[in-house]
Amino acid sequence: MSNLPPSMDPISVLDKAIADAPELIEDASTLAELEAVEGSIVGKDSPVGEVRRAMGKIDAALRPAVGAKLNEASSRVTKLIDARRQVLQAAEEVRQLSAEAIDVTLESIRLKRGAINLVQQTIDEVVDIFVGLGYQLASGPEAELAYYNFDALNTPPTHPSRWESDTMYLDWGDPSDEVLLRTQTSPVQARWMETHEPPVYIVVPGRTYRKDTIDATHLPVFHQIEGLAVDTNLKFSDLKGTLLHFAKEFFGQTTEVRLRPHFFPFTEPSAELDVSCFSCDGGEPGCRVCGGAGWLELLGCGMVDPNVLDAAGYDSTRLSGFAFGMGPERLAMTRHGIDSLRHFIENDVRFLEQF
Ligand code: DAH
Repeated sequence: MSNLPPSMDPISVLDKAIADAPELIEDASTLAELEAVEGSIVGKDSPVGEVRRAMGKIDAALRPAVGAKLNEASSRVTKLIDARRQVLQAAEEVRQLSAEAIDVTLESIRLKRGAINLVQQTIDEVVDIFVGLGYQLASGPEAELAYYNFDALNTPPTHPSRWESDTMYLDWGDPSDEVLLRTQTSPVQARWMETHEPPVYIVVPGRTYRKDTIDATHLPVFHQIEGLAVDTNLKFSDLKGTLLHFAKEFFGQTTEVRLRPHFFPFTEPSAELDVSCFSCDGGEPGCRVCGGAGWLELLGCGMVDPNVLDAAGYDSTRLSGFAFGMGPERLAMTRHGIDSLRHFIENDVRFLEQF
């Protein structure tokens, strides 16, 4: 009993431990604290521990009573500790779960929804108008033979558009198998007629290339939409009526058209089509859209040159046709008052999201 205060007998030491235990244990607020409390009540160096160690030296007559008290103390303390441990463990689990929880109510990162580019929207709209008239959608290669881009379209080897300063050649040299990036969608006219029987009513959107430096009105890569109609009795009035219908559908029902004489190698006669200004209806000096001219230049067109029909193997004495070609970038610029082609390629969302 060396370390016990001499004044205290083992029974009262144990009674005190039993009496103090509930409050001490209840006060432990973490598992680590509880372990420390357990040690302080029944551990090796606790008063109870001292009694346990001193058992051998206790009077034999007192020993059974002290032993019984010792058992009672340790079993009561163990029960209280176990109960408290369960409570603290449950609390610890709750704490850990909430610390590791994923908050599914957090706003997710949303990718902004894109839109179809204005040029493609314009192409779709134009194609729709012609499909509505019974035209078929056609396409051809962007890497094209000089034969289809020029020769089959009645464009002689000396024509300036064939110069290397204007056309991007992929394989330049022998005119019979020169490959180039097509400068127009017109070669699809020849390709289609070579492989299809008349009548022909096709609309051909596609990408085209020219050796131009980027500025407000030029892009080296741009788009065209070609139209070709070949049948047994097509006249210039059919061309005009078709394009008038297109202009009204695209710009509005009050739109008027006018044709100005022009030249294209593959049409005879050839013309440029103007539409009346949709903004001022041709009546406003200094109009923001037409500058007061009243007319907007829209596209090239004409009656298919008989040489083009013949080159494709069609009988030009029996068939006639008309063709037209327009630029969707220009259509979109005209309609929306866009001042530079650069907007189409700069990917500035402030521009793109307006359409
Ligand atoms: N291919 C011509 C160009 O790029 C546009 C054109 C004009 C197409 C008249 C045609 C047409 O089919 O008949 O300038």
